[in-house]
Amino acid sequence: MAVIIKSPTEIRRMREAGRLLEEVYLELAEKLAPGMTTAEIDRIGEELILKRGCIPSCKGYEGFPAAFCISVNDEVVHGIPSEARTIEDGDIVSLDTCLVWKGYQADAARTFPIGNVAEEDLDLIRTARESFFAGIRFAKPGYHIRDISRAIQNYVERRGYGVVRDLEGHGIGADMHEDPEIPNYVTRRRGVTLKPGMTLAIEPMITEGDWLVGWMDDGWTVVTLDGSNAAHYENTVLITEGEPEIFTYSGEAPVIQE
Ligand code: MF3
Ligand code: CO
Repeated sequence: MAVIIKSPTEIRRMREAGRLLEEVYLELAEKLAPGMTTAEIDRIGEELILKRGCIPSCKGYEGFPAAFCISVNDEVVHGIPSEARTIEDGDIVSLDTCLVWKGYQADAARTFPIGNVAEEDLDLIRTARESFFAGIRFAKPGYHIRDISRAIQNYVERRGYGVVRDLEGHGIGADMHEDPEIPNYVTRRRGVTLKPGMTLAIEPMITEGDWLVGWMDDGWTVVTLDGSNAAHYENTVLITEGEPEIFTYSGEAPVIQE
C-alpha cells in the first residue's frame, strides 16, 4: 500500500486532533497518583477525550476494551486497564491512546513516573523520549524511514538499553495504522523516501534489559521476557519542507547529544 500524502485540510484536522490529545495528556498527568487503579486512569482519560468532542479510537480497535493502553513497569505496551491493578509509589506507567477529531486520528504515548521512582527508571523514561527526538532529526524530505530507525536504535543502544523489535511505528491519518511501517531498529529495508504531507506515528519502545518480549494470556499485554522495566514515547508527526511538525507535543524539545 502506498503512503498517503495529506491535503492541507487533512493536515489542519490532524494538527487540531494532535493538540487535543496533547491537552488530554497534560490534564491526565496532573491526576496520576499512587493508589489509583489503571481502570480509574482509563475512565478519567476517556472522559477528557469525550469532553473535547473526540472519539477514543483505541476502544473497540480489534476488540481492545478500553480508551487507553496502560502498561506498568515490565509491561511494554497494550496493557488492559483493570480494577485489580493499583499503581504504587515507584511504578512507571506507560499510557498510549488515540483519538479521532473530524475524521482524523492522533496517536501519542508517554511513560510517567509515579511518586518516588528509581534513578535508573527515570533515565529509561528520559532515554525513550530523547530517542524520539534523535529519530525525528531525520524526519525530513529526502531521508528514508530507516534513517529515523537507525538514529533511534543508536541513541538507545549507546546508553545500554534495548529496542523492542516486535512492534513499530506507523503512518497515520483517517486510519490509526497506515503505511509506512516505522521500525525502531535497522532492518534490510530502507523504507520509503520521506515527502512533505506524510504523517507518521513514531514510537520507540525501550527496555532496561534485553529487548525480547512476550504476550500475556489476555492476548494484548506485551511484557519484557527478562522482567526488566520498559518505557514508551510516541508522537504524531508531519513531514514538511523543513523541520518536522509534531502534532501531539508543543513543548520544548530536549537537546540531543550523540
Ligand atoms: N496507539 C497504539 C498503536 O499505535 C494503539 C494500540 S492498539 C489499540 O499501536 F487496540 F489499543 F488500539
Ligand atoms: Co501508534
